[in-house]
Amino acid sequence: MAKGKKVTSYFCQSCGYESSKWLGQCPGCREWNSFVEEIVEKNSSGKIRSVSGGNAELRPTKISEIDMQTRERMQTGFGELDRVLGGGIVPGSLVLVGGDPGIGKSTLLLQVCRNLTKDRDVLYISGEESLQQIKMRAQRIGEFSDRLRLFCDTGLERMEQVVEREKSQVVIVDSIQTVYSEQVGAAPGSVSQVREATARLLQIAKGSETTVFIVGHVTKEGVVAGPRVLEHMVDTVLYFEGDRHASYRILRGVKNRFGSTNEIGVFEMREEGLQEVENPSEYMLNGKPQGASGSIVACSMEGTRPILVEIQALVCHSNFGLPRRTAAGTDLNRVNLLMAVLEKRGGLSLSNCDAYVNIAGGIRMNEPAMDLGIVMALASSFRDKAIDETIICFGEVGLSGEVRAVNMVQQRVSEAKKLGFTVCILPKVSVPGLSDTQGIKIIGVENIQEAIRCIG
Ligand code: TYD
Ligand code: MG
Repeated sequence: MAKGKKVTSYFCQSCGYESSKWLGQCPGCREWNSFVEEIVEKNSSGKIRSVSGGNAELRPTKISEIDMQTRERMQTGFGELDRVLGGGIVPGSLVLVGGDPGIGKSTLLLQVCRNLTKDRDVLYISGEESLQQIKMRAQRIGEFSDRLRLFCDTGLERMEQVVEREKSQVVIVDSIQTVYSEQVGAAPGSVSQVREATARLLQIAKGSETTVFIVGHVTKEGVVAGPRVLEHMVDTVLYFEGDRHASYRILRGVKNRFGSTNEIGVFEMREEGLQEVENPSEYMLNGKPQGASGSIVACSMEGTRPILVEIQALVCHSNFGLPRRTAAGTDLNRVNLLMAVLEKRGGLSLSNCDAYVNIAGGIRMNEPAMDLGIVMALASSFRDKAIDETIICFGEVGLSGEVRAVNMVQQRVSEAKKLGFTVCILPKVSVPGLSDTQGIKIIGVENIQEAIRCIG
């Protein structure tokens, strides 16, 4: 290629796949129409840098020589967030907080700033809001210490200078899509810009033991590079999700180099910012109807924590040749499979019925242990017979209609007991593993027929 000519490449804005020509569908993530042409400056992003944090003399280090004194985790003041992070913030880590615009990422991080600045310095860099706007938000949240420094800019080079000068223990960049490096020709928010900015922030984090939080918006349109492009570069990926119309929010760990990824944290958006929800089961079961058919409470494990949710099903006769089925909060294919099992093994003629399944509260739960709950809710609605309100169930359902074992049975039963349930339907094979069943009647079932018989 002639010298001086701009080199361009096409990038999938969803997964970052690079191609020399435009493609209609991305071979990487199968997204349609996601390729955008960007200028690439190979020598700016292709530079090899050290991430070892001071190991300059090209000598590998013995594991016993590594100094662990500075590696104590910082507490964020939010128990829910600390748990998702695996026990607090690891110094020198790079954490990506992704989520839909307006879900509350900036609010959460500003509240974290408030808690952290009680005994350390935090630098909050915003490319989205002005100083006055941040202050307005801060006033809703509460009192702030002056150890929080704010900086509103979008230039990556200027940000680096400020971070170097301030030497804060924690830096927050809100959001990565607004960051612009002069060394990359592409527009802010494009794959090359977002990647370059993240790579440079990674240098800062690893080189100076500063924890960097990056905010990334997820957009469906593919105009702005999704945080998925960055997932492999950062240490921890947290997604903040929830229904914008409902007030609760779920913080989910998607990747974590320093802890488990199954953990979730539950928050509620209030007038004065986010509030932790310490007992999510109670919260999720709020407003459960009394004596209605097609409703049952099931138990799902989210990491180490059991969460009780209400499963609702509505089965009615279909007016068209092709029955309509929808699933909200769970996998539609799974619902179709369970309906086929119910038809063949449970003897319910569902083939010309419409069916709607919903996990109440808008939460997403895909654990196989929810199967039995879905089956029970469908059967209850089909027969129009309500399930007793004191019953809770969990178990995986197989294709022969058998109810299979699930893990952490005791935790689930204990949670059910705590919330006042008195009957628990669970896989028969899991019953011997239970140690404490006082105050709750355990019904072990081998197959779905036995389970359906428990419906009134
Ligand atoms: P925000 O943190 O700006 O979202 P993001 O950074 O993810 O784009 O959240 C904005 C929403 O939160 C907005 O709809 C208003 C609401 N909100 C409250 O309900 N209470 C509050 O105290 C604050 C600060 C925001
Ligand atoms: Mg924001």
